[in-house]
Amino acid sequence: MRPVGQGLREPRSARVKTIAIFGGTGALGSALAGRLSKAGYDVLIGSRDPQKAAAFVAETKAARPDFCGTGLGLAEAAARAELAILSVPYSAQAETLALVKDGLAGKILIDATAPLRPPKVGTVQLPQAGSAAVEAQRLLGSDVRVVSALQTIAAGKLASGRAVDGDVLVSADESDAAELVCGLMNELGLRAWYVGPLANSAAAEAMTAVLVQINRRYKRDQSGLRITGKPKEAPGESALRRSDGVAVTPLRGLPLFGPGDDLAHALGDSIIREGLAPEDGDVLVVAQKVVSKVEGRAVRLADVAPTPAGEALGRQSAKAAELAELIAAEAREVMRVREGLVIVRHRLGHVAANAGIDFSNVADPGGPPTVLLWPIDPDASAERLRAALELRFGARLAVIISDSLGRAWRAGTTGTAIGVAGMRPVRDRRGESDLFGRVLQATFVGVADEIAAAASLVIGEAAEATPAVLVRGAVFDPPDGTGAAGLIRPLEQDLFR
Ligand SMILES: NC(=O)c1ccc[n+]([C@@H]2O[C@H](COP(=O)([O-])OP(=O)(O)OC[C@H]3O[C@@H](n4cnc5c(N)ncnc54)[C@H](OP(=O)(O)O)[C@@H]3O)[C@@H](O)[C@H]2O)c1
Repeated sequence: MRPVGQGLREPRSARVKTIAIFGGTGALGSALAGRLSKAGYDVLIGSRDPQKAAAFVAETKAARPDFCGTGLGLAEAAARAELAILSVPYSAQAETLALVKDGLAGKILIDATAPLRPPKVGTVQLPQAGSAAVEAQRLLGSDVRVVSALQTIAAGKLASGRAVDGDVLVSADESDAAELVCGLMNELGLRAWYVGPLANSAAAEAMTAVLVQINRRYKRDQSGLRITGKPKEAPGESALRRSDGVAVTPLRGLPLFGPGDDLAHALGDSIIREGLAPEDGDVLVVAQKVVSKVEGRAVRLADVAPTPAGEALGRQSAKAAELAELIAAEAREVMRVREGLVIVRHRLGHVAANAGIDFSNVADPGGPPTVLLWPIDPDASAERLRAALELRFGARLAVIISDSLGRAWRAGTTGTAIGVAGMRPVRDRRGESDLFGRVLQATFVGVADEIAAAASLVIGEAAEATPAVLVRGAVFDPPDGTGAAGLIRPLEQDLFR
């Protein structure tokens, strides 16, 4: 069955805003409530005892004042919700559904019930109807659309607030209901797969007993399920692929980053917040500054001890000796020097002013002078981000680390790729025909630089407001292992040296 991408197809608020959780005071229900509230939903905690629900909400708000929830009895929660989740023990499923049935008419119910029957919770014991979700559908009738989900996700993992390294299997008889639920799961930071009709919920429900066995036998904590395998068609597989247009979407709401922060996780969360559903061939462009920051590449000038060579370069360029020292250390070759400017061939091969070292957006203006160096290995940084985001979203992605560089013979800086993963940085169009059927002879396109330049139209230079964008629709070839070095003209071909 097909995986469903991240984010809802339509604006979320246009469809559902208020979600009830029957059993919201329990382990799974409370974890879901936290994530739903964080994702912007109004949560109705449905309990057999409205006072218990109200106390639960008061307690949660005391710990997390931004929690958006209301405690109610089961029937009232059902009546007020636009969509509901059932997370009660299997033994209480039928009696709970009887209480909420009327209020759910015309709505979707996500059934998380696993039919575990103590004491043998490590043995698969499916109900006679085939699964608990099928039973729920029978009990509720066709007025309610039951979607099965979440059985393979441990409540503790959800409650942690961190990324969950497990997948959700979603089954439903109607694909639009399943896709809506997949989108909702994505918003909660979960990868979801629409695996077919509601009858297939038996597999997910049975899996919980299997996971219980794995936890016990192999002393694992909250084991989960991961669907592996790669999408069939690699992006750019066809050299003749044409772009239908390129969209550049800013990833907003990212925090100010510091050393050691989990950039991949923050980018993934932002992608989900933007309601984006990453697709094969999407390119994430990330400003070098944030990558350098999380990798601890900020240097206080006061901590630099200039060598005589650094001091000499400082005098020649009228720059502080400490800064000149760093420029020299980052350079393979100093190419030109004039007052205020040092052009070097960076140790990574790129020709860049001041070795790409940057003063802006590093520390607060009143703080000690601090500069930011490029990452040690931007290709490796891009690859780490690519691998983490590909795992999270299940789509084949490329990542570019970009910086604004000047270009010989042209005025103005443009976004330029200094780290590349998941794509070939140049596109070889030799052999393709032009409009008039003439075969293109010497057409290498610096496609990673083109994408970085397009991204720089949106990436915030000054205020670091938007340090990353998602680019969709660019045509490129599969990776060839060269990384950003593939964009650097070999020295023996440089006619201007
Ligand atoms: N825990 C997990 O990791 C996990 C993961 C996936 C799926 N599930 C499934 O999700 C459902 C809920 O699991 P859970 O671990 O959250 O259970 P739980 O902590 O025991 O909570 C269940 C909630 O259901 C309500 N409830 C209604 N009738 C009940 C009854 N007769 N006995 C006990 N509680 C009753 C209770 O809320 P009120 O007292 O407020 O009514 C209780 O807080 C189960 O079907 C489970 O198989 C659990």
